[in-house]
Amino acid sequence: MKRATLILLALSTIVNGLSKPTDSLLSRSFAFPKSGNALWYRSPAANWVLESLPIGNGYMGASVFSGVQNDTILVNLDNLWAGGPFADPAYNGANWGESDVPAVHQRLKALRETIFANGTANDLNGITPDAGQYGTFASAGSLVVSRPQIISNYTNYTRWLDLDDGVIRSTWSEGYITFRREYICSYPDHSCSHKTSASQAIPKILYSIVPIADHSDIEISCKGNSTLVLRARAGANGMGMLYEVAGSVRLSGDGSTTCSNGYISVLNATDIWFTWTGDTEYNINAGTAAQHYSFKGSDPHSQVTGILARVASIPYAKYLQNHLNDYKRGTSQSFSLDLGQSPDWSTPTDVLLKNYQAWQKSRQPSDASTTLLEWILVNYGRYLMFSSARGNLPANLQGVWSQGAWSPWSGDYHANINVQMMYWPVEVTGMDVTQTLWDFIQKTVVPRGGDTAQTLYNVSRGWVMHDETNIFGSTGMKGLDIPNYNPAEWTNYAAAGAWLMTHVWDHFDFTGDIAWLKRQGYPLLKATAEYWLDALQVDAYSKDGSLVVNPCNSPELPQTTFGCTHWQQMIWELFNSVDKALSVLHLGSEKAFLEEVRAARSKVDRGFRISPSGVLQEWKLDLDNSDRLAHRHLSPLTGLYPSYSISSWVPRSDGFMSTDLSKSALINASRTLLMQRGNGTSPDADAGWGKFWRAACWAQLGEPTRFYSQLSYGIARNFASNLFSLYNPFNTAENTLFQMDANGGYPAAVLNALVQAPDTQRRDETLVVTLLPALPSSWSRGHLYGVRTRRGLELDLEWRSGKLTKASIKGPRILNGTVVQVKVQGAGINRQITLTRGQSVTLA
Ligand SMILES: *[C@@H]1O[C@H](CO)[C@@H](O)[C@H](O)[C@H]1NC(C)=O
Ligand SMILES: *[C@@H]1O[C@H](CO)[C@@H](O)[C@H](O)[C@H]1NC(C)=O
Ligand SMILES: *[C@@H]1O[C@H](CO)[C@@H](O)[C@H](O)[C@H]1NC(C)=O
Ligand SMILES: *[C@@H]1O[C@H](CO)[C@@H](O)[C@H](O)[C@H]1NC(C)=O
Ligand SMILES: *[C@@H]1O[C@H](CO)[C@@H](O)[C@H](O)[C@H]1NC(C)=O
Ligand SMILES: *[C@@H]1O[C@H](CO)[C@@H](O)[C@H](O)[C@H]1NC(C)=O
Ligand SMILES: *[C@@H]1O[C@H](CO)[C@@H](O)[C@H](O)[C@H]1NC(C)=O
Ligand SMILES: *[C@@H]1O[C@H](CO)[C@@H](O)[C@H](O)[C@H]1NC(C)=O
Ligand SMILES: *[C@@H]1O[C@H](CO)[C@@H](O)[C@H](O)[C@H]1NC(C)=O
Ligand SMILES: *[C@@H]1O[C@H](CO)[C@@H](O)[C@H](O)[C@H]1NC(C)=O
Repeated sequence: MKRATLILLALSTIVNGLSKPTDSLLSRSFAFPKSGNALWYRSPAANWVLESLPIGNGYMGASVFSGVQNDTILVNLDNLWAGGPFADPAYNGANWGESDVPAVHQRLKALRETIFANGTANDLNGITPDAGQYGTFASAGSLVVSRPQIISNYTNYTRWLDLDDGVIRSTWSEGYITFRREYICSYPDHSCSHKTSASQAIPKILYSIVPIADHSDIEISCKGNSTLVLRARAGANGMGMLYEVAGSVRLSGDGSTTCSNGYISVLNATDIWFTWTGDTEYNINAGTAAQHYSFKGSDPHSQVTGILARVASIPYAKYLQNHLNDYKRGTSQSFSLDLGQSPDWSTPTDVLLKNYQAWQKSRQPSDASTTLLEWILVNYGRYLMFSSARGNLPANLQGVWSQGAWSPWSGDYHANINVQMMYWPVEVTGMDVTQTLWDFIQKTVVPRGGDTAQTLYNVSRGWVMHDETNIFGSTGMKGLDIPNYNPAEWTNYAAAGAWLMTHVWDHFDFTGDIAWLKRQGYPLLKATAEYWLDALQVDAYSKDGSLVVNPCNSPELPQTTFGCTHWQQMIWELFNSVDKALSVLHLGSEKAFLEEVRAARSKVDRGFRISPSGVLQEWKLDLDNSDRLAHRHLSPLTGLYPSYSISSWVPRSDGFMSTDLSKSALINASRTLLMQRGNGTSPDADAGWGKFWRAACWAQLGEPTRFYSQLSYGIARNFASNLFSLYNPFNTAENTLFQMDANGGYPAAVLNALVQAPDTQRRDETLVVTLLPALPSSWSRGHLYGVRTRRGLELDLEWRSGKLTKASIKGPRILNGTVVQVKVQGAGINRQITLTRGQSVTLA
């Protein structure tokens, strides 16, 4: 018998084998989703980073092992961090103190002069302050559900993450007794649950919460006979953020519960549901100077108790339904992708991945199993964002899933590609998960970033941040207190805010939400632009009258210089965003500001130069580039993808500077750079994000073969069997790091092969929408419904044998009369149409 049949039989045995379902959960189908949209395995997870499965509601994350005798669930709270003002009341977000400021301004001035005289500088000349108590995203402990005694060794075990439902399930047998588990994190009910059902009473099952050893003031207590409470501080010696996690057991049917010595003990029950929630004393609304950047709120106890009391009155079936409604509305109501895959219930996901790795090395033609994994990874990337981005804070580098007291890279917000990449698939697939990101920018980095602008750069308007930030508004150019150590390559990145502003503009451009643009989007754009209006320098090296950044490092490269290509693009685009936003808002009060922005924009160096060897330059000067050959970052190509400075290039016609290029020369030099950067495997480069950025760029260049080969290389190389994207994939499990960036970069790269509509400098320029620009031959049939583009447009397309068979475009949601040029690669379609509001036009 083939394994496929066996499993289906096993599942149907389980479903039918229960004579009397004990509640409505058991009467609904407890089987794999028919669509094939799941990750599934035949044994429990043994290792967090490689095998556990994630659920989350944004506020909380849970990493699920689905053990049989002992089940472990790592518990996370999105705002639980060690460090910051909770560890050191004098924590200042890596900024200089008042008394240092005059000297720092002098040193910055000297540094700029060196760079303008010499082209580069050796080090940052003492402008980086100590990072202080930067802290780290920390786990809140784990929930352990154990049975002192099993009935017999288990058989027929399966666990799976159903991506249609956003639920983890598992099932197994012990003798003639069948067990089922269901795990949910519910956004509407602000809690997570762990449900065990058995076809016969379970003699004894214990629930406990295991704290993090490095945390302090740990108290675990019982409340009544069915509630456990953990309270602790995320740091040693009582210094650290206070948090509370509490959970209650409920039974349906027979059984009894007692709670003592940190254990809830349940006897003789068949249906047991443990629901937990948690919170910290972090308060994002207390991050201003007036509140001394304390970020301190109230004791989380009443919030936690209130949620548990409310959830206690909800029947389980209703709880599940609330979650399903929220999940389906948020992920699949209007968006749907088909790559021609078919479900495969004979090959567990870990085996599917192993087969994929072998296939990728073999260079054989792809088949149904490769397409299935490629499709699941798109859904999974969206699932992870939906499950981690909506709570108190945006998704961090780990989403909302971590183990222990410390997270890799502090589980922070790396804003020189990583956080941006996680958000790439969000607007295009219509997920409403970004409000926490805007609030985070507005309430953490903008206030403190105003201090950084002032104390480091002597700029009194606007705000600035650097590459890495935490939840306590770390905005300074943080250094490390190590003698003779030059941190410039990672810390000297002040364009992070400008890059994030492309997301702010896009949010409006995709959704058409004018009220939001006026209330939150435009003020963010303006404050960011204000900083750059004052921080840009007249280029005293080239003496060409242009405005450039100084000092700059191209992300994670050692040269400290001026006019870095990537920074110049981001600032030019930022000024465009201000202009475009005001063309929508028509704010009379902003007239003078708009004139100022336009005047600066007309002088900003847009950054593009081609070296004598034909490569797009990293910097205004053609510096020694041996470090950047095959470098992991593609920073000069930001304007190719995800942005538009290259893709929608229009040479200037005003004769300013002598450096303007034709679009074909710029694209050619960009392609040469992309070739030179290799496939993302050079030393210190073996992360998924570098590969999917490359894949998206190849798609942008309309090269399906290179797109697909880079995409499949990333899949084979950088995912664990739980499909977490990995850094150091071939190291030991202990050294292998999960960073969620590539889980977001992957779906974005796939979509960029199916539909492209790069932004333009002005809103009245024609938007070029290209359908199937880089469709690989292995995705010969499929559909994409409900995909969004900027200007508030929405498209549906279908293709067969690699050719577009049906397409329609709907929109725009707001501005009437949007002009769109629709192109279909290889199909001779090139139509200019004018769309009125909400109108649907059939294209093919
Ligand atoms: C496991 O599943 C198979 C196939 O349905 C069934 O024949 C067998 O009895 C099950 N084993 C146990 C121990 O339940
Ligand atoms: C479950 O935990 C108990 C108590 O810690 C331990 O004795 C037992 O070996 C564990 N069982 C498994 C399968 O890990
Ligand atoms: C700082 O800015 C002020 C106001 O623009 C200016 O007068 C002063 O010279 C600047 N300081 C340095 C060191 O450049
Ligand atoms: C000037 O630039 C050269 C390389 O172009 C470098 O070797 C030298 O150290 C720089 N001088 C200073 C003072 O930074
Ligand atoms: C499970 O299997 C092991 C080894 O096969 C055996 O020693 C043990 O007795 C079994 N346990 C139960 C409860 O059947
Ligand atoms: C828990 O204790 C309450 C009384 O405090 C009792 O009414 C209830 O039946 C107990 N529940 C269980 C499941 O043992
Ligand atoms: C649990 O069930 C066992 C076996 O049926 C029985 O002996 C025991 O008294 C029950 N315990 C409770 C607390 O109901
Ligand atoms: C593209 O760049 C390559 C490599 O520098 C060069 O040989 C070629 O002439 C360029 N083609 C165009 C059209 O500019
Ligand atoms: C990726 O690049 C490395 C280094 O150049 C090379 O050894 C490897 O074969 C390449 N792999 C693929 C799939 O292109
Ligand atoms: C949009 O423009 C069209 C044609 O110019 C006009 O007929 C229509 O009334 C406008 N619709 C809205 C909602 O403004």
